Amino acid sequence: MRRPRRNRKSAVIREHMRETRLTVDQLIYPLFLVEGTNVKIEVSSLPGNFRWSLDLLLKEVEECLQLGIRTFVLFPALEESRKDKMATHSYHPDNVYLKAIRQIKSRFPEACIVTDVAMDPYSSDGHDGLVENGEILNDATLPILGKMAVAQAEAGADIIGPSDMMDGRVGYIRESLDEGGFTDVSIMSYTAKYASAFYGPFRDALDSAPKAGDKKTYQMDPANRREALIEAELDYQEGADYMMVKPALCYLDIIYLLKEQFPIPIAAYNVSGECAMLTAACQNGWLDFNQAMPEMLQSIHRAGADVILTYFAKDFAKLNRT
Ligand code: PBG
Repeated sequence: MRRPRRNRKSAVIREHMRETRLTVDQLIYPLFLVEGTNVKIEVSSLPGNFRWSLDLLLKEVEECLQLGIRTFVLFPALEESRKDKMATHSYHPDNVYLKAIRQIKSRFPEACIVTDVAMDPYSSDGHDGLVENGEILNDATLPILGKMAVAQAEAGADIIGPSDMMDGRVGYIRESLDEGGFTDVSIMSYTAKYASAFYGPFRDALDSAPKAGDKKTYQMDPANRREALIEAELDYQEGADYMMVKPALCYLDIIYLLKEQFPIPIAAYNVSGECAMLTAACQNGWLDFNQAMPEMLQSIHRAGADVILTYFAKDFAKLNRT
């Protein structure tokens, strides 16, 4: 009789049987940055995550590096006064975000920095693209994204992360980077980014919710799977080095699909709302965090994600500390 239980009979044998292994190297930790000094404000809808001023952010990065987390994705939370229609602050020399990239890379050259390219943190309309008469203009947004990407590359970013979902932006950014001499700077494209309800805590953290309308004319319909292939094909042709699926947990089938079809690393963004719901259940005593959290990340990895952006990176690293 074939007895599958034999391969589960002891811890040693279960290790032999284990098909996937998630390590800290595969995690990317999102960090929120604010202006000022000595600022550390918790994001109330995302407990355990903070908006950091640059001085404290550097300490946080150092602590993460000691835990084995080497890749970070940075997001700026800016005052309303920094925002305008054209998101001009995104490439302004005084921008705290560019300053942060510069300082992290000079203090910790081993840290790998992924940026965010989209207009929303800098836009007075709170949209990822340029708004005119209630419409998001695709082609007029591209030069703004191109400038933002080049400014981030100049500051020392390793990987540019366009999260805006405008058509043609990966190719446009690739060309802008190459023309600027940044041929070695990578692009991690938010390839299949869905118009999801799970971004709420992130928009709280950045005060970046759209002032009017929603993001459904550029982010994908959660009902769609084949449409992800159109986005993926384009990003691949336009030169993306990584493809991301976002959110992760409700979209494991999309992760699997892209992993099967494309020979580049697949990233998955375990977004703020996914982390918040697990945290809330654990705070209520309904789930055990140290068991449920790694299971959640493992499932995303098992579906095919090579790297995972997650607010639990630090918790996972601490749990796996030997
Ligand atoms: C926007 C952006 C969003 C996230 C990352 N980049 C939110 C949005 O599209 O409105 C969400 C990440 C998260 O929820 O953790 N460019």
